[in-house]
Amino acid sequence: MASSFSLAPCLLFLLFFFFIVNGAAQSQSSSLDFVYNGFNRTEKNFTLKGATFIKPSGALKLTNRSRDVIGHAFYPDPINLLKSSNNISSFSTSFVFSIIPSGSDGGGYGLAFLLSPSTDLQGADSGHYLGILNSTNDGDGSNHIFAVEFDTVNGLNEGKSSEGNHVGININSMDSVATEPASYYVNDTDKKEEVNLDSGHIQAWIDYADGVVNVTVAPLFLDKPMRPLMSKKIELSGVVTNSMYVGFSASTGEERSSHYILGWSFCINGTARQLNLSILPVPPIETDSSSLHTGFKVLIAGLAVILLVFGAWLIRLLYRRKMKPEDLEDWELDYPHRFRYKDLYTSTKGFKVSEVIGVGGFATVYKGVLATNGNEVAVKKIVQSLTQGMREFAAEIESLGRLKHKNLVNLQGWCKHKNDLLLVYDYIPNGSLDSLLFHPPDNFVLSWDQRFNILKGIAAGLLYLHEEWEKVVIHRDVKASNVLIDADMNGRLGDFGLARLYDHGKNSHTTSVVGTIGYLAPELTRTGKASTASDVFAYGVLLLEVACGKRPIRPANSQSSDHFILMDWVFECYQAGQILDAVDPRMNSVYVVEEVELVLRLGLFCSHPRPEARPTMRQVTRYLSRDDPLPIVDDWAAPDSSRFSDISPRFLEIVSTDTIRSSCRSSSVGYISSSSIQAGR
Ligand SMILES: *[C@@H]1O[C@H](CO)[C@@H](O)[C@H](O)[C@H]1NC(C)=O
Ligand SMILES: *[C@@H]1O[C@H](CO)[C@@H](O)[C@H](O)[C@H]1NC(C)=O
Ligand SMILES: *[C@@H]1O[C@H](CO)[C@@H](O)[C@H](O)[C@H]1NC(C)=O
Ligand SMILES: *[C@@H]1O[C@H](CO)[C@@H](O)[C@H](O)[C@H]1NC(C)=O
Ligand SMILES: *[C@@H]1O[C@H](CO)[C@@H](O)[C@H](O)[C@H]1NC(C)=O
Ligand SMILES: *[C@@H]1O[C@H](CO)[C@@H](O)[C@H](O)[C@H]1NC(C)=O
Ligand SMILES: *[C@@H]1O[C@H](CO)[C@@H](O)[C@H](O)[C@H]1NC(C)=O
Ligand SMILES: *[C@@H]1O[C@H](CO)[C@@H](O)[C@H](O)[C@H]1NC(C)=O
Ligand SMILES: *[C@@H]1O[C@H](CO)[C@@H](O)[C@H](O)[C@H]1NC(C)=O
Repeated sequence: MASSFSLAPCLLFLLFFFFIVNGAAQSQSSSLDFVYNGFNRTEKNFTLKGATFIKPSGALKLTNRSRDVIGHAFYPDPINLLKSSNNISSFSTSFVFSIIPSGSDGGGYGLAFLLSPSTDLQGADSGHYLGILNSTNDGDGSNHIFAVEFDTVNGLNEGKSSEGNHVGININSMDSVATEPASYYVNDTDKKEEVNLDSGHIQAWIDYADGVVNVTVAPLFLDKPMRPLMSKKIELSGVVTNSMYVGFSASTGEERSSHYILGWSFCINGTARQLNLSILPVPPIETDSSSLHTGFKVLIAGLAVILLVFGAWLIRLLYRRKMKPEDLEDWELDYPHRFRYKDLYTSTKGFKVSEVIGVGGFATVYKGVLATNGNEVAVKKIVQSLTQGMREFAAEIESLGRLKHKNLVNLQGWCKHKNDLLLVYDYIPNGSLDSLLFHPPDNFVLSWDQRFNILKGIAAGLLYLHEEWEKVVIHRDVKASNVLIDADMNGRLGDFGLARLYDHGKNSHTTSVVGTIGYLAPELTRTGKASTASDVFAYGVLLLEVACGKRPIRPANSQSSDHFILMDWVFECYQAGQILDAVDPRMNSVYVVEEVELVLRLGLFCSHPRPEARPTMRQVTRYLSRDDPLPIVDDWAAPDSSRFSDISPRFLEIVSTDTIRSSCRSSSVGYISSSSIQAGR
């Protein structure tokens, strides 16, 4: 009795002890499942060697673009993948990297995901060896190295199948056991699409289970392709030891690129969690962080100043033609996809005149067909020598890089070549709303349904810019010629060249365009401060323009000595209780009366002279979808509000008729930019 009495607690204690130890061990080993969307807030300090450092933005920079630079970064704790002497735990990882070559001719060498018994790879060589091995120990079974390389230069054994731009699986040697040109399978078919490893942000996945390694790469904007690029049987049991470090290595050689890791997720005995692509680090266009919190007006102003300084800095660099490879890098990293110049050159038949689809202030737009996938694109070639063009470029990319919405003309990528700056957009087949309304193909009239649908689409696009994206983006140049119509007759808002760019106090020769006459809210002309409300104003003008089929302003001409101002006219019709008189006669009265009335009244409401009285884009979309009734606001039409005396006449005073005429050379009669206004002062 006594002996069993003393045995029980003893057993209990042993059991308890066993659970504690076992539990602790289990939780320690099975808890290896981490996700880093950027590396500046990691709870663990990574083991960084060589040139590696973490930028304030959170980007992990492995190498810069100097010769023979090596960088390593490891998760600080060792991992144990051995279950038994011949059985390895499965693991899975996903990461986003960006390789920025030193010139348009390409860079090198590459980066690798690495399992290594040590974080100290002293003596490793740069170049082909990627900072992992050297000529002495290459191929040595005692290295215990497993690596997946993303290499932009020919493999070690030149002439072997490993072309530049390839992915390889390496065991203890830089001579890969398997390599494939970097590409991905489209939708589980046999069709492969090339991935240029140094063309921007690329995501890679490596999954190991049951003796098979799968490697997959894809451009950032794609989900993980269903079929892996490589699926290779690999015996890792002789390779990994019971204490391995997991991380990355990269190096440059004669060819040079900077190598970045932007996010990394890793998991043992499971599938690596998805990275949150929307919060991956973007490069530091260093802003004053305190001003970020004092409201978006300050933000806009701050950004504008920064962009200006930044622009001036770039221009200076370009002028001196002494671009050191490192200099443009920080803003280059921001943008999702970099095209090769030669691809764009061939796609547009060498920027042939016959491929021109538009000419803007500082840019020519070409239609192109990408040889890689046959996709049609619009390539905007910026005339670089103009300082304006440069700033437009920086601003446009800055805002557009990460914006994605079905009612926006999405930026697919960009390219810089000598003095040429190129932006690649979705190609929108049906041209601009302006040309469909005012220069339609023979006998074509936009139906009311199409018009209403386009207007609703643009409202959704603007709502996204104003409220749904991570920052408030003010378009600043909403107008019919910036609305493009896609194959399904949906409206897409384009040309963000002016977004968030405001040029303070520059002399009149270089003032930036701040909008288009006829769409400029009255407060803009007084204060020059663009806001979401001034976008709403321009959207209101667009509503009227589309419903009435008339341009917002028609200058005095031989038939009439007065300027025709659409808003005034619709307002008069409204006051007279005859608002439907304003409707575009070309629709032959085929329309839904309630919808047309809604659009016209909403147009007046949005273009209310007082910015605070205008609806927000969220309210606008609710009115358009009839979720909310359009309120009857007395004063949006109050005759005494001197509704327009403030707007157009003041402009027309400033702008001589000559200026208007001279700007009418292009097809956009009636639109003049405020740069000519200011120059006319
Ligand atoms: C993975 O699961 C196996 C059992 O299936 C276990 O032995 C091993 O310790 C686990 N590894 C880790 C790191 O959790
Ligand atoms: C990481 O490094 C920082 C700065 O060197 C230090 O303050 C911090 O304590 C370190 N954190 C850990 C978990 O080691
Ligand atoms: C690149 O990194 C190496 C190693 O850290 C350093 O010596 C070199 O100065 C760096 N080059 C530039 C241009 O920053
Ligand atoms: C390795 O472990 C898995 C599951 O833990 C098991 O299904 C498999 O048979 C083992 N393989 C060997 C060679 O022991
Ligand atoms: C190659 O690397 C090994 C291990 O890191 C090192 O001991 C050796 O000195 C290196 N050889 C050369 C020639 O640098
Ligand atoms: C792949 O599948 C997606 C969705 O299933 C589809 O939108 C896309 O057009 C497909 N791509 C090709 C090339 O078939
Ligand atoms: C690797 O790919 C093959 C073929 O698609 C698939 O059957 C297998 O499940 C994949 N293995 C892992 C670990 O993802
Ligand atoms: C990504 O991060 C954003 C911002 O923190 C968050 O709102 C969103 O829910 C995250 N998405 C995922 C899939 O975790
Ligand atoms: C980390 O990076 C993110 C974005 O990349 C930035 O918003 C944040 O301020 C950074 N945090 C620190 C502590 O620098």
